Amino acid sequence: MYVCNCNGLRQRDALTAIQAGANRPAEVFRHHRCQAQCAKCVCDLRKMIDQARNAMRYAAE
Ligand code: FES
Repeated sequence: MYVCNCNGLRQRDALTAIQAGANRPAEVFRHHRCQAQCAKCVCDLRKMIDQARNAMRYAAE
């Protein structure tokens, strides 16, 4: 499933960037050497980042 249609980023591409340390949507774009265009995906990317952080926090407990 695509998260960012402008850059052709799928959920798994975003997760790869998040697992590599991306903490902000801009860092997800940077990881994939692209940048926000329409920015409609930024809220979804933030949610994915928050969910990944929460999952890592619970895994560490
Ligand atoms: S959908 Fe991601 S920048 Fe447009």
